[in-house]
Amino acid sequence: MNNFKPVRKAVIPVAGYGTRFLPASKAIPKELLPLVDKPVVQYIVEEAVSAGISEIVFIISENKTAIEKHFSQDLLLEDFLEKKGKKEALATIQKASNLAKFVFIPQHQPLGLGHAILQARDVIGDEPFMVFGGDDVMESDIPAAEQLIEVYHQYGGSVLGVIQATTETIGRYGAVDIKEELSSGVFSLKGIVEKPPFGQAPSNYGSVARWLLMPQIFDELTKIQPDSHCGEIQLQPAIASLISQQEVYAKLYQGIYRDCGNVVEYLKANLAFSLKHREFKKEIYAFIQEIKTK
Ligand code: UTP
Repeated sequence: MNNFKPVRKAVIPVAGYGTRFLPASKAIPKELLPLVDKPVVQYIVEEAVSAGISEIVFIISENKTAIEKHFSQDLLLEDFLEKKGKKEALATIQKASNLAKFVFIPQHQPLGLGHAILQARDVIGDEPFMVFGGDDVMESDIPAAEQLIEVYHQYGGSVLGVIQATTETIGRYGAVDIKEELSSGVFSLKGIVEKPPFGQAPSNYGSVARWLLMPQIFDELTKIQPDSHCGEIQLQPAIASLISQQEVYAKLYQGIYRDCGNVVEYLKANLAFSLKHREFKKEIYAFIQEIKTK
């Protein structure tokens, strides 16, 4: 049995503008758009909770307060549903607010993912923690967060979840530079390159969606200057500095990455999740067959 500190807290930054999803995301946070019958971000919270995380820190902007509302208790609505005998509906809304302890921290300007994470420093303290992309859903048998935590329990450092990209697509991600493959799909790292130019990626493994980080990342984030292209304080350069000081690992996800901040990928995710839904799968499958022939 190792004595690594448990991972109890997660940060979910949801303060971005969601420009790829405008106009839908102007008044409604893209993280609250439904995947079948549940908001995207609730899948992410449920995954975190299933991996043993009990405190969720949301980084929100002024126009994302609906996310706070979604995860807070609504006594008037509960009372209404109770009186109407709508037990199932009541259970679904109670479930969302009882999932974990929720903390909401403002990010007044969307200065980047790294800047958003830095706002959680005081709440996280000196503990390992996880970061979940607020629109990044993972479809997998073993929850992606659990996959990363398992690697942490074995090796004891930061763990980046990675997908296998192609030579053409790796330029969209932080490409990891591998030191050694420790076991199938688990790597120790010697670097990470944010959005490498075509042909210059150190590997085709791209860091996305979930990061299990040691608290020293906060010191590194304070040193990061805004990116010269987009002006944002990014996460990957801070991870690159961390790699130069301590062991950092990557875990190839077993499962499918669904980037729900991208319209086409979001639509695909809705279809994929509908086809798995107990109540709707038959009808949706029949509908696909029907429109395919037209
Ligand atoms: P994204 O880049 O996917 O979100 O960041 P975005 O900036 O909202 O989207 P586009 O590119 O304009 O369409 C990943 C996550 O980080 C949050 C976002 O809300 C999203 O959930 N984020 C991003 C912040 O919380 N703050 C930021 O400054 C930037």
